[in-house]
Amino acid sequence: MLKLGILGLGEGRSTMSAALSSPNYELVKICDQKIDLCLQRAKEFDFQQYTTNYQDLLDDPTIDVIAIYTPDKFHAEHTKQALLHGKHVVCTKPFIDDLSKAKELIDISEQTGKKVFVGQSSRFFEPMKKQRADFNAGLIGELITIEGYYHADHRWFLDKGWSLENAFKWLYGGLSHPVDFIRWYLPNIEEVMGMACSAPTGEKVD
Ligand SMILES: NC(=O)c1ccc[n+]([C@@H]2O[C@H](COP(=O)([O-])OP(=O)(O)OC[C@H]3O[C@@H](n4cnc5c(N)ncnc54)[C@H](O)[C@@H]3O)[C@@H](O)[C@H]2O)c1
Repeated sequence: MLKLGILGLGEGRSTMSAALSSPNYELVKICDQKIDLCLQRAKEFDFQQYTTNYQDLLDDPTIDVIAIYTPDKFHAEHTKQALLHGKHVVCTKPFIDDLSKAKELIDISEQTGKKVFVGQSSRFFEPMKKQRADFNAGLIGELITIEGYYHADHRWFLDKGWSLENAFKWLYGGLSHPVDFIRWYLPNIEEVMGMACSAPTGEKVD
């Protein structure tokens, strides 16, 4: 059984809930810098092993895997720290928001022998699982082209202060979902050509 620590208890709540009912994971500790959120999750799940300091997860020798659910701009740094402390990583989407950070993370993962798994949850939604099962059963037919879409009402997301920072990129946050679907069906992409723009609603709101 893998021993898990979770960093970031907003969406990290879903992994907390899943880990506590999983036969494959044992939840060891949860972490959020907001003590109120730690206390809220502790009460909600009757799970008292919490900390507000990420270093406590990194230094805990019993933890095998750290699941990262901090705002996007911190994923690369938090993943790097986990790998360097000998932990495997599950990181929510988007894994990174700047390709210049990619090579270093791949190198560290290879050097440490620790795995990084990107938590692309959309593959596990029922309609997508059904479509995939139909495809695998040959019901959809031969694969010729793929179109991936992501339409979502993100007004709730604007309540998060970090979604209004310039560092936040709507394109990475949203596009990671359809791109993952395309990679699921066409895993050996060799070349990509693209053009994109953000709608005015994706610009910083004052
Ligand atoms: N479908 C999905 O897979 C899905 C859905 C929602 C969110 N997400 C992803 O999850 C991530 C978090 O989103 P959210 O909605 O939970 O945001 P959020 O702001 O609600 O939660 C992030 C939490 O991280 C904590 N945090 C930040 N830095 C920290 C640090 N150094 N140490 C400890 N805690 C720290 C914050 O206090 C905050 O509570 C984002 O990358 C988002 O894209 C994925």
